[in-house]
Amino acid sequence: MANVAIIGTQWGDEGKGKVVDLYAQDADVIARFQGGNNAGHTLVVKGQQTILHLVPSGILHDWKICIIGNGVVVDPKVLIEEIEKLKSRGVLPPNTRLFVSDIAHVIMPYHRRIDVARESHGMGKKIGTTGRGIGPAYEDKIARVGIRICDLLDEEVFREKLNQNIDEKNFYLTRLFQEEPLDKEAIYREYRTYADRIRPYVADTSIIMNDEIRKGKKILFEGAQGSHLDIDHGTFPYVTSSNTVAGNAACGTGVGPSAVTAVVGICKAYTTRVGEGPFVTELTCEIGDSIREVGQEYGATTGRKRRCGWLDMVLVRQSVRLSGITGIALTKLDVLTGLEKLKICVGYKTPQGEFTESLPSNPRLLAQCQPIYEEMDGWTEDITKATHIEELPQNTRRYIERLEVLAGVKLVLVSVGAGREETIILKNPFDG
Ligand code: IMP
Repeated sequence: MANVAIIGTQWGDEGKGKVVDLYAQDADVIARFQGGNNAGHTLVVKGQQTILHLVPSGILHDWKICIIGNGVVVDPKVLIEEIEKLKSRGVLPPNTRLFVSDIAHVIMPYHRRIDVARESHGMGKKIGTTGRGIGPAYEDKIARVGIRICDLLDEEVFREKLNQNIDEKNFYLTRLFQEEPLDKEAIYREYRTYADRIRPYVADTSIIMNDEIRKGKKILFEGAQGSHLDIDHGTFPYVTSSNTVAGNAACGTGVGPSAVTAVVGICKAYTTRVGEGPFVTELTCEIGDSIREVGQEYGATTGRKRRCGWLDMVLVRQSVRLSGITGIALTKLDVLTGLEKLKICVGYKTPQGEFTESLPSNPRLLAQCQPIYEEMDGWTEDITKATHIEELPQNTRRYIERLEVLAGVKLVLVSVGAGREETIILKNPFDG
């Protein structure tokens, strides 16, 4: 029996929500291991759109255990809002079990303020963050001054840690950015109320995870963002502040690496990116605009326009290598319907005129790389009703067969529309 990690192979927004939702049906436990409310999954439930930023999307299935692991940074206000929203829509039934790790770090108001101030004051490099305080919260974790959920729940420890932090953060905000200082007492009172409201959900989630694994239950590790936003392996510095690769599924939930037995890489049929940073196959022409409109490529968290471009197999292959991907779930293939010609990037030409099949680490060189494309004929037929590969038009099949060869990994799923049923299932990753 397999435990499956799902990760994005590009820069996030690959359509993980739908795939996680599908695989959640087969899983007993769905666990998030990194990121925070910078992520966003749009799900259509009972005809209503539900956008989740923190709670694993598996919450919509009865009887599942949903875990927000220790590797996640938690904004308690957002968590409470999501819990309330789900309850009011009747999609957080009492038998759904949601647990938040007691050692996950808490996003504080000063994290959000610092994130936004840095981005808006024009000092240093603009990353195009989501402004949710993700980076500053992870910084405090690494600097060993962060406040964890267990600290938040303890009145005395919380008071002490808030005291330690607030003077330094206010100094930074007021002196460097000429911002108003934050009110310590107001934060203390606000966060005490959050502590009481999240307390019923807080647990040592490593124990729960390991118990469930011992019982032979099936685990789905739900990644957020994408491989190329990884803090170590991504297009640094235009990355998020956590490890998004599959290796972090274990560390971010408190299980051993042997617990992750299969890795599904989600790959969108084209490429998108939000925020700043190099994007070799970006289309700044009408085709890019058309992909954005048809694919509704606007951020679920910030509403920002996503930059769109051709499928870049250099990115995808690197993800396969970084995460040991065992199967690829191809998403949003239907968005390409109607384009006369399609291009797949198979390598880059470096500024020195050399051919490379991997991303140069130096951002200056990467920004100057030119895509090397293979051109293919597109298709015009509606593919959204296809339930088997054989039902796809010949040109569609050529496109995905080429993708499979270039990735060096088999497809496990092809998504041909937004609905759950608009999916061609080739292999269930839980079958091992
Ligand atoms: P942060 O995670 O808010 O610090 O943002 C850092 C970078 O990651 C920015 O370029 C964001 O646009 C990007 N980013 C963060 N979360 C997501 C996501 O869920 N999808 C796509 N990009 C993301």
